[in-house]
Amino acid sequence: MDISGAIVVVTGAASGIGRALCARFAGAGARCVVAADIDGDGAAATARMVAGIGIRCDVTLDAEIALMVADVEARVGPIALFCSNAGVALFDEPAANCAGAPDGSWTRSWAVNVMAHVHAARHMLPRMTARGGGYFLNTVSAAGLLSQIGSAAYATTKHAAIGFAENLAISHRDEGIRVSVLCPQGVDTPMLRALPQGPQHLDGVLTAEAVAEAALEGVVAERFLILPHPEVATYLRRKVDDYDRWIGGMAKLRRRMRDAPP
Ligand SMILES: NC(=O)c1ccc[n+]([C@@H]2O[C@H](COP(=O)([O-])OP(=O)(O)OC[C@H]3O[C@@H](n4cnc5c(N)ncnc54)[C@H](O)[C@@H]3O)[C@@H](O)[C@H]2O)c1
Repeated sequence: MDISGAIVVVTGAASGIGRALCARFAGAGARCVVAADIDGDGAAATARMVAGIGIRCDVTLDAEIALMVADVEARVGPIALFCSNAGVALFDEPAANCAGAPDGSWTRSWAVNVMAHVHAARHMLPRMTARGGGYFLNTVSAAGLLSQIGSAAYATTKHAAIGFAENLAISHRDEGIRVSVLCPQGVDTPMLRALPQGPQHLDGVLTAEAVAEAALEGVVAERFLILPHPEVATYLRRKVDDYDRWIGGMAKLRRRMRDAPP
């Protein structure tokens, strides 16, 4: 897609990858970048950086996404690219039962990492298909293709986000809808800084700016799978080629991480 002149919405835009996406799309000539976040002050700060619009929006609430979409389209014009980027990473206690996190952690992970993408599509699709097309960029994670050692809720909800994006891309391709999933490993943001050293650090931690650059390139090329860490493609191939061997390798990696000195 052509970013120049486009109206772009980015959720989770107060911080990290979301803020970098706003800056990159603005730099690529977007007509207006809307920075949305549950942290309204942070969204406003990003909006000031890109001369865009800041909106406080809790993406887990369908009504707040509906209101934001209607408001932006009434005030600025048709949204061409909707980036569902907000996410949460809630980690398990080390060595705990992988299903042991409280239901609240699972529910919140599900609401932010999956349902927010569903809400965005629910309210954007009728508008986009009526005008012949539109684009969704969903920030997922390599954890959605491989797994996440240390957080079953993160791994599971990110897999679900891939499942939804695939279905969205298949169901609405003929109506001009295009979809990309952004699946990095470690990225230097407040989210990663809050986590202990883990497998997500092994292939190098990218800057949010480098990930935003990869995202822009992938969207311009209209590529479904955007992998800022190219190693992920190799790991995915190994997983598909021999699932049992891959699970054994991941269990070995988990042991190695668990037994490593802090
Ligand atoms: N940092 C990494 O290593 C990494 C790796 C792979 C994928 N990701 C994914 O990238 C995305 C961005 O994460 P980040 O690393 O920039 O983290 P971050 O914590 O810096 O930013 C996440 C943003 O999402 C916002 N947010 C959380 N819940 C929200 C809600 N209910 N409504 C609206 N906004 C909400 C937060 O306020 C925050 O500004 C996430 O989906 C994350 O899972 C991150």
